[in-house]
Amino acid sequence: MLKDRFGRQIDYLRISVIDHCNLRCVYCMPLRGLSFIPSPELLTAEEIERVAAAAVSVGFRKFRLTGGEPTLRPDLVEIVGRIAALPGVDDVSMTTNAILLPRLAGPLADAGLGRINVHVDTFNPERLKKVMRFGTLDEIERGIAAAEAAGLRPVKINCVVTRDYNDMDVADVARRALERDWHARFIELMPLGGGEAARLSLSQFVPTRETRERIEAALGPLVALPRVQAADESRNYRVEGRRGVIGFISPVSEPYCGTCNRMRLTADGRFHLCLLNDDELDVKKVLRSGGAVADVAAVLARAVGLKPTGHRLEEGISTEERSMFQIGG
Ligand code: 5AD
Ligand code: SF4
Repeated sequence: MLKDRFGRQIDYLRISVIDHCNLRCVYCMPLRGLSFIPSPELLTAEEIERVAAAAVSVGFRKFRLTGGEPTLRPDLVEIVGRIAALPGVDDVSMTTNAILLPRLAGPLADAGLGRINVHVDTFNPERLKKVMRFGTLDEIERGIAAAEAAGLRPVKINCVVTRDYNDMDVADVARRALERDWHARFIELMPLGGGEAARLSLSQFVPTRETRERIEAALGPLVALPRVQAADESRNYRVEGRRGVIGFISPVSEPYCGTCNRMRLTADGRFHLCLLNDDELDVKKVLRSGGAVADVAAVLARAVGLKPTGHRLEEGISTEERSMFQIGG
């Protein structure tokens, strides 16, 4: 088991498999001026498996695939299969915008994927167009249905709350979660990436308190659920007598760095020590010079040892130069 300098046990690896996305959410990806990691620089399925095996060897049990949009990776099913087959892996999940799930949900579930988080900010088709820009509600709905049919349940819905874009829809998203037995999570905007997306994230920020008030005004009082895992960044609630879960992820108003249990692997093969900090440790060099699982595990142990204590977003300070699509959330 790996502990960092602050006594946090790190056992959850989020693996970004690609930095491309088929959507362009306003707070994440600009429409112009993007540059992506060239394919030869992306870790291969085998290299990702070697990192996962190294992580398992030092006590990691949980893995999540992210992007960009992970379903754009042609060998995603193979990657899931390789990770899920490693002895000691408890949980393989994925964050996705669901657009490509009608084709992929079945094969991914068969390969060992357990659960998905679907990013969808609103179920109002016009506002979805404004905030997520490419893609349609119809496509996302079909993706969610395919995931449920493939047994990837319970579906979690990630709703990033952005003022004037979807803050008026949070109660509607919550109501759907109760109706369809989803776990909706309302996420405070983080200013990542330094450019136009980060500026928008600062100016359109909505605190969890406000989102919660809107939901309670529409649906009634929220009853707190006991925290199942200390490291769960979502504070979860239900509505008396209803199914579904309503959660709030509040990196700005209620930082959860003290219980952070995660390490991130970027698609170009670096350990990213903290979502809100630029520090990275190259692991691709070791992978591409024939490093064995033990060599990779040594780099991972070093990365865990370097994890910073936390971020200072509540003071309006972000040092993060990479955007969410480059880190994987
Ligand atoms: N702030 C907060 N959450 C974000 N996401 C993407 N960009 C941001 C941001 N700037 C969310 C998306 C995705 C998850 C990994 O992070 O909902 O599902
Ligand atoms: Fe794509 Fe997710 Fe970024 Fe939206 S937030 S552009 S779906 S990577």
